[in-house]
Amino acid sequence: MRSLVLLLSLAGVLCAQKYKIGRAPSAEEEKAWDISVAPSGKELPAGKGTAAEGKQVFSRRCQRCHGEAGKGGDESALVGGQGTLTSAKPLKTVGSYWPYATTLFDYIRRAMPLKEPGTLSPDQVYAVSAYILQLNGIIGEGDTMNAETLPKVKMPNRDNFIPDPRPDTGKKAKK
Ligand code: HEC
Repeated sequence: MRSLVLLLSLAGVLCAQKYKIGRAPSAEEEKAWDISVAPSGKELPAGKGTAAEGKQVFSRRCQRCHGEAGKGGDESALVGGQGTLTSAKPLKTVGSYWPYATTLFDYIRRAMPLKEPGTLSPDQVYAVSAYILQLNGIIGEGDTMNAETLPKVKMPNRDNFIPDPRPDTGKKAKK
């Protein structure tokens, strides 16, 4: 990711010179933009939170769309569905489907609450992630989630993803 950021900012400098519009982003702006957290979680920021703390955040900022205890309708449920993936009506939620807990942090920080993304502090994102994991029976109520513990959480569906061996591009892909 770092090299991509470097490349993009270099491209920005070159464009700015060529077309005399815009400007290169500052290091601070790049940092604010560079928020991706990979499955390993090594990019996770400092901060921490428990499910008990996350419950408060959830009831104020998430519940109206995702329902009480995250059990919203089929479209917005964040909880439940474990054991339904091979059934005729699979319910894909964070608990039943997502392979990595670190993705939960990344997703919430970048995209939620839907109309106010980027307004939660790292502590609030850790806490609300912990709450969703606890509601799914994956961690305990008092477990603290932080940069060390979140990557260690084993999601129930982690081992059920099968890499697709078909090539995406090139001549072989056309067969
Ligand atoms: C205004 C309604 C709204 C609010 C408030 C909201 N969400 Fe969402 N959320 C959505 C919608 C709609 C989606 C589906 C978005 C999509 O698929 O592009 C979603 C998707 C999600 C997902 C991904 C679910 C999945 O399985 O793909 C997570 C996790 C999530 N929200 C967490 C939260 C958290 C945590 C909060 C509170 C901090 C929150 N949301 C607040 C509407 C909302």
